[in-house]
Amino acid sequence: MTQAYAIERTGSVAVIGGGIIGASVAWRLAQRNWRVTLFDKGSLGGEASWAAAGMLSPGGEIEAPSDFASLATESRRLYSAFISELEEVSGLAIDYQECGALDLAYSRLEWEALEARAARQAEIGIPSKQVAPHRVAMFWPRIRTEGLVGAFFYPDDATVNAREVMVALGAACRKTGVSILQDCPVQTIQISDKEATIKSGPREESFEAAVIAAGAWSNAIAVKGVPALPPAEPVKGHLIGYQQPEQSCHTVVRHGQGYLLQRANGLLICGASIEHVGFDREIRPEMVTWLAEQAQFVFPHLRGTAPSDVWTGLRPGSDALHVGSWHSNRLYLAYGHYRNGILLAPLTADRIASEITASLQRQ
Ligand code: FAD
Ligand code: GLY
Repeated sequence: MTQAYAIERTGSVAVIGGGIIGASVAWRLAQRNWRVTLFDKGSLGGEASWAAAGMLSPGGEIEAPSDFASLATESRRLYSAFISELEEVSGLAIDYQECGALDLAYSRLEWEALEARAARQAEIGIPSKQVAPHRVAMFWPRIRTEGLVGAFFYPDDATVNAREVMVALGAACRKTGVSILQDCPVQTIQISDKEATIKSGPREESFEAAVIAAGAWSNAIAVKGVPALPPAEPVKGHLIGYQQPEQSCHTVVRHGQGYLLQRANGLLICGASIEHVGFDREIRPEMVTWLAEQAQFVFPHLRGTAPSDVWTGLRPGSDALHVGSWHSNRLYLAYGHYRNGILLAPLTADRIASEITASLQRQ
């Protein structure tokens, strides 16, 4: 704890939603001496943050300059220190790999698209390097080389096991004094000049401020005293996993819309679908088949192997990324992270904790 934290005032903040965003915000606020209550309708990290593949991939997700691009590259820079601090505070190890990513092109059209994207990305500081097919064969011997036109390697892309991050965040929150209320859905928030009053079942409590970090459910909370919240929409994704020998896929590998990455425990993950089907979580066999075909195309050795794991998750879609106050210094939004909430967690947490601290200290 630094001197700066020690002199900040103590007050109370409610964080609604215990995914990676809410739990990171709660931890950072508690470090700044706020008394924090973290509400979750279910269990900590039980939704999108459990489902995520765990790519930290400005290289795969950003096409051109934008505010979002700056936030993503900034959050990527914070990641290594975020994980080290979390491991130290929680006492738990986290599978975080600075492994890079390889984007493959199997046609001239795909190659030209990768080249053009890499040129645009270079302008915003995302480095990449062309890799010739014979070098792909040398360094990634399992990847299909038949028809391979070339590849781009992104050295700064990384992966993290988001489930391990969630377990560590739970421990770090408890150690810094966050009160964690699971199975406590928040139904309403009343905002006034002086406070934010939270209703969760029979419980009603006032806080100096509230943060909505409820992912795809964020705008289902009835908020009174401020204009209507921006939209939140679930965007379903299917993922499949193959238990493989450890370290048999040592970087992220991408082709078209698909990606593969391997966790330290050997699970080779292939994703993902993008489906606008509401809060449906059902596993659809046709999606599993489609993902398996993609995995087998890039890694022919997977032919004849059935996935050992299949799951779905609901990404928090919105009209934009919402990180900051909402028409009051008593209400803050932290949602709309869509495909990149794992990547954006460190930056989101720092921004919200700093903004609340600065805003309420000024009074
Ligand atoms: P969530 O993890 O969904 O957490 C929201 C929490 O709010 C939940 O625990 C829920 O129970 C709680 N809640 C909801 N309503 C209430 C209420 N009324 N009261 C109290 N609590 C409530 N991101 C990446 O960066 N890299 C990836 O590789 C990646 N891959 C993905 C693959 C898939 C298939 C999916 C689905 C997502 C992926 N994402 C990835 C996106 C990432 O998972 C999300 O952006 C991130 O987890 C969002 O975190 P969150 O905390 O906002 O939401
Ligand atoms: N960022 C990967 C996904 O959302 O599928």
